[in-house]
Amino acid sequence: MVEEAALPADLTILDYLREYRRQCGTKEGCASGDCGACTVVISELTQDTDGNESLTYRSANSCITFVGSLHGKQLITVENLTAESPISNVDGLHPSQRAMVENHASQCGFCTPGFVMSLFAAMKTNKGVSASRGFIDEQLGGNLCRCTGYRPIIDAAKEVLNLPYTPDQFDHKSAQTIESLKAISRRGCDMENSSNVRKGFFRPQTIDELYQLKTNHPDAAALGGGTDLALNVTQQLDSINKVIMLGGVSDLSFIEESVGELRIGAATRLTEFCDGISRFCPELRTLMMRFAGTQVRNQATVGGNFANASPVGDLPPVFIALNASLVLASARGERTVKAHEFFVSYKKTLLEQDEIIREFILPRSLFDQPDNGNRVVNRFYKISKRLEDDISAVCAAFHLELDGDKIVNVATGFGGMAAIPSKAETLEATLTGRVLDARCLKDAANALKQDFQPIDDVRATAEYRHRVSANLLHRLSAELYTPDVITTVAQYEH
Ligand code: FES
Ligand code: FES
Repeated sequence: MVEEAALPADLTILDYLREYRRQCGTKEGCASGDCGACTVVISELTQDTDGNESLTYRSANSCITFVGSLHGKQLITVENLTAESPISNVDGLHPSQRAMVENHASQCGFCTPGFVMSLFAAMKTNKGVSASRGFIDEQLGGNLCRCTGYRPIIDAAKEVLNLPYTPDQFDHKSAQTIESLKAISRRGCDMENSSNVRKGFFRPQTIDELYQLKTNHPDAAALGGGTDLALNVTQQLDSINKVIMLGGVSDLSFIEESVGELRIGAATRLTEFCDGISRFCPELRTLMMRFAGTQVRNQATVGGNFANASPVGDLPPVFIALNASLVLASARGERTVKAHEFFVSYKKTLLEQDEIIREFILPRSLFDQPDNGNRVVNRFYKISKRLEDDISAVCAAFHLELDGDKIVNVATGFGGMAAIPSKAETLEATLTGRVLDARCLKDAANALKQDFQPIDDVRATAEYRHRVSANLLHRLSAELYTPDVITTVAQYEH
């Protein structure tokens, strides 16, 4: 157990490891969550519905995770995998390391500790269940290698993830680890009396403590997963002197189905959101698997993707199209706003300084087929340069209700097309009451031009964004109808 009470609030785990502990096995590549060289594994105490306790192991990018968020958790780095491993043979390597060696999956080696840690986390998640190529791609999608090529790395993953699961040193010590973690969480964080306060890292455990801290320290940054907030430190070289961490408040982390609604706590991490939402909307899980890499999804939260007000966040367009509401709360009370009203202007939202996003409410009916024989379709499209671990140039979300081929209801959400994520109101009016056929597609492309005047930036030009968003409507049409519906009208057009 390690106790630290005098570290800066904005110190990342990576800097802590390399500069304070001199553990340099964990590497720094991009310092922005994009390459996975800095991957570590964080284990946490979890309880199932029967009250059984166990440890959950998740990979994380140490370069964009503040060290304070490790309170009550176990940090595992590449140095911890070797030596004492009961399943190592004479070479002293953990199976995740040995597979990389034996498959010649490393050349310069800079990315290798990160891949090893992702493989280790994947072993802990998969526990000897035969791993599909899709699972391997998901687990390694957040790790880049610039010199070996991915084939030997994938071979190493196939080998190690398809071995029968053998308990390792972490399993052997799990009872002891669970007791240590429980002892730490019992101690909690003494709020205003804690030495943490001197360094500006607050970790409330109840929602009321959180409201109080937001009232007393309106200048403090709210920390969800920190995967965006930390970029201010690592990329802009800013200092963040006060942080209020939301992750200790269990009332903020849930997915619940109640009468007619799906409620999602703002601090729910994207990995849990993906798991929970796939039952209701498998299409959304598919989109979410393209959201950054596994390490980021393990840390980033649903609320954080709104609070950072990025014009290219992937969840806001989806929640706008799904007519979601946000509950904003503070010590003064709470209010509910629609997702499409939440964003005011570039990087500005309706959140007051003392407020937090508490939860999201999605109408449950959006995921079901209606009784009147109409057809409900949800489609979410992400356009980015890479399939994995990339930021959207354009993200488009559609919720449609069709009577036969005719669209009777449509709601849209777009990211990357304007300074804020928003609906395409002219497009919605253009599509309503029509079949999305060749003539309608032409009108829809013009409607998009009225709705949005995108900008050129490093990810795409304005012209590209216009073209690709219109092309996504062609894709939508192709997915909605049999070819004859579109072809017949196309011939009519000529
Ligand atoms: Fe690249 Fe952390 S150094 S993800
Ligand atoms: Fe050199 Fe992967 S081995 S970057």
